[in-house]
Amino acid sequence: MMKAIRIHANGGPEVLRWEDHTVPPPGPGEVRIRHTAIAVNYSDVNVRRGGFYIANPLQFPVVIGNEAAGIVESVGPGVTTVRPGDRIAYVGSGGPFYENTGAYAEQRNLPASCLIRLPAGVSDRQAAAMMLKGLTASMIVNRIHRPKPGETILIHAAASGVGLILTQWAKHLGATVIGTVGSAEKARVVAAHGCDHPILYRETDFVAAVKRLTGAGVHAVFDGVGKDTFIPSLDCVRPFGMLVNYGNASGHVPPLDLLLLAKKGSLSVSRPAVSSFQADEAACQAACDELFDLVARGIIKVELGRTYRLEDAATAHRDLEARQGAGSMVLIP
Ligand SMILES: NC(=O)c1ccc[n+]([C@@H]2O[C@H](COP(=O)([O-])OP(=O)(O)OC[C@H]3O[C@@H](n4cnc5c(N)ncnc54)[C@H](OP(=O)(O)O)[C@@H]3O)[C@@H](O)[C@H]2O)c1
Repeated sequence: MMKAIRIHANGGPEVLRWEDHTVPPPGPGEVRIRHTAIAVNYSDVNVRRGGFYIANPLQFPVVIGNEAAGIVESVGPGVTTVRPGDRIAYVGSGGPFYENTGAYAEQRNLPASCLIRLPAGVSDRQAAAMMLKGLTASMIVNRIHRPKPGETILIHAAASGVGLILTQWAKHLGATVIGTVGSAEKARVVAAHGCDHPILYRETDFVAAVKRLTGAGVHAVFDGVGKDTFIPSLDCVRPFGMLVNYGNASGHVPPLDLLLLAKKGSLSVSRPAVSSFQADEAACQAACDELFDLVARGIIKVELGRTYRLEDAATAHRDLEARQGAGSMVLIP
């Protein structure tokens, strides 16, 4: 018997319950993992609330969460890729990100094929804080728009888990970074991580501020906020520039009239999902290797300020939804 955070119905943070939970021995091809650090992602909030991406009704009770780091406790028949005692991390379990959840638990079983070995230079907490967020940033920077010296990039919610990694990466690649943030404290954090021009977008018109800073507009926008920022961002981009919407923290982006892209200066729009990126195992391993190297060398620093006990997951969700704090959020069993 062990403990897990389970939900018996969709709803607010109060539906997250700290309960006894049983996990069977690992089956063929499976591995029993003892979690040491568990990520909190916006998708966990979406699964908890219900009705967001989920096509099939959930079979309650559900242990939410889909990303963690830990130690291999035991392996099922046929597993040769990892051994008890190995340090590993995972993001998702092969299917859609919001299905087959189970990370908010002291232990769980997963197919061995989902596991990524952790190098010595990356701690368990860093891994849990950066796998999904870092792979999302990697997908944007390596597949959609690679910031270059001489370019200016606008990053919305630059203090968010993904935003803070994007900020450091764009800066490392030589771009000038403009970052929108929800508070003066977040402005201080993003500036310390390389953002050249933080904009307090809850009190300042960010379109006017970007125009003032750039004249012609930015080369690309990286937007995880969605509904509140995406359409106004069309006015921040220079001709032939790129808008990447990777998230919906404020809600879905409304349907877009393609002709608007022509009128606004022959713009391009991309809406990537990390699951497509992960579908190619070799590319995903290469992306993890690059991320681990950037973190181990200190080029990307992973903010670990928001750490909670696993049983306090409801507090973590309340803080996430209240937009409190900068960087990634991690639960410790
Ligand atoms: N495409 C993919 O595959 C993929 C992968 C990972 C994450 N995502 C998505 O990307 C988005 C950001 O993820 P994250 O992990 O970086 O999130 P996060 O750390 O929780 O940050 C989200 C930030 O969005 C801002 N925000 C603006 N309006 C908001 C609102 N109405 N409610 C809550 N927050 C609001 C807040 O920053 P300010 O206070 O500074 O405004 C908040 O801190 C999420 O929607 C997530 O689901 C997508």
